[in-house]
Amino acid sequence: PIRIKKICCIGAGYVGGPTSAVIASKNPDIQVTVVDYNRERIEAWQTDDLPIYEPGLLDVVRAARDAKSKRTPNLFFSTDVDRCIAEADLILLSVNTPTKSLGRGAGHASELSYLESAVRKIGEVAESNKIIVEKSTVPCRAADTLRDVLAATAKPGIHFEILSNPEFLAEGTAIPNLLNPDRILIGSLKTPRGLQAAQALADVYGAWVDHDRIITINLYSSELAKLAANALLAQRISSVNALSAMCESVGADIDEVSYAIGLDKRIGSRMLKASVGFGGSCFRKDILSLAYIAESLHLFEVADYWRSIVEINEYQKDRFTRRIVRCLYNSLSGKTLAVWGFAYKKDTGDTRETAAISVVDNVLTEGANVRIYDPLVKETQIRQELKSTTSRLGCAEKQLVVCDSAYEACTGADAVIILTEWDEFSNRSEVVRRDSGHGKKTKARSERKVDWARAAEVMRRPMFVFDGRNIVDAGALEELGFRVECIGKA
Ligand code: NAD
Ligand code: UDX
Repeated sequence: PIRIKKICCIGAGYVGGPTSAVIASKNPDIQVTVVDYNRERIEAWQTDDLPIYEPGLLDVVRAARDAKSKRTPNLFFSTDVDRCIAEADLILLSVNTPTKSLGRGAGHASELSYLESAVRKIGEVAESNKIIVEKSTVPCRAADTLRDVLAATAKPGIHFEILSNPEFLAEGTAIPNLLNPDRILIGSLKTPRGLQAAQALADVYGAWVDHDRIITINLYSSELAKLAANALLAQRISSVNALSAMCESVGADIDEVSYAIGLDKRIGSRMLKASVGFGGSCFRKDILSLAYIAESLHLFEVADYWRSIVEINEYQKDRFTRRIVRCLYNSLSGKTLAVWGFAYKKDTGDTRETAAISVVDNVLTEGANVRIYDPLVKETQIRQELKSTTSRLGCAEKQLVVCDSAYEACTGADAVIILTEWDEFSNRSEVVRRDSGHGKKTKARSERKVDWARAAEVMRRPMFVFDGRNIVDAGALEELGFRVECIGKA
């Protein structure tokens, strides 16, 4: 059997950082080094101001990274990609695989150039056998591409075994997901060397995951299973969002409908929450990738089926904006909207593909003044995101203000628009969770909820709430004088 002593993770992002930190914390005898060519990111991982926000992450990082009396550090962050590759027995590829923006397949296919360049580097610098693990989400048979690149670049006599080990963590809950995964998938070739490599990786996870949750399957099944899982999760949300449009017309309540169908054990209750639309860096890109693969196999009906999930999501975002315009007497010109939340979900500072981009863009186009508040996302990031993705911001810069509090956002506003389900925005009385191990701002944030009566004091009449996450108790807000519009409720 192979015993792993050194792991190199290429890519210090949302997957590479937390995954490596958990592997290191659970395997004190394995040295884990995360490398990235982004120096700023690597330097941030070496401080307590981590480059990504994830509840509980700092504690796990500190435990493995910082010298303590009883434990030698075994988690490192470095820009010395060559050296760390050369020293490792096992390499985790956690680089980004976004949607292609240029050429054939642009807007649909996955961009594999980051993965290819990482693997070229491995081929160039490796002096010993390596197990190479696809942790990034990749199209089917990407492993063949990687093998081909390695065959052409590596020194003779060195063996590379490629495994697929997709990551299923969701942002905002990455640490509990990693510590207690539903399953660990390891795909390999069914050759003796392939099976031996799969066992070596299984042993790394075996340090904290029960053996019956570590599933070893065929390499290509594993690659496809990751795309399939994301497509099915997103499909549930689009199904519920499609139903939410019907609810608004027939007088049904989507939360009640979701609750009712979720009680069926075959369906289950999770991922059935209606929303302004799903965001994040994964769902859209992975479904488009799956559809593109189907299309390249001439399975056009299959491609259309998967693509419709993304189409419903676009429709949902548009529908939400149209409702705002309709309720505000068909014109947003000269009106002010307080946007609460910009991240694509709560407990993350990530804004990739957030529904907020489309909604804010649409209301700016209608002439609204927009005042955004998000507890975690900084002004520069909001402006950058809108600038790189929207049609309007160049000329609408003056219409946009980024605020330090929910109340400041409400000053002179005609409506509150909730786009992220941050706990502090809800007026329901459930307990606010407090996490350890993150920045000061977040600690301050979770201490209290927004006082809606105080927000109302500074708003213009009539006051509206458009709840894109169905987190408010509409009745209580109506008593304060708000007119409340929720997703999937008449
Ligand atoms: P990310 O953009 O946060 O991080 C990727 C990092 O890789 C970047 O810091 C980049 O600088 C670095 N990088 C790219 N090419 C490199 C190279 N050749 N050498 C060194 N560094 C390089 O991306 P992410 O969100 O962590 O996602 C990574 C992969 O994991 C993607 O394929 C994604 O689909 C998949 N995934 C993401 C999530 C998630 O929640 N974000 C969950 C599951 C799977
Ligand atoms: C997703 C998958 O859940 C995870 O397994 C995979 O590894 C990466 O992609 P992530 O995008 O981080 O994770 O978060 P997720 O919780 O799935 O939410 C994605 C989007 O869907 C968010 O915008 C969220 O607000 C939205 N959502 C989620 C809903 O609108 N309704 C729901 O019921 C659940």
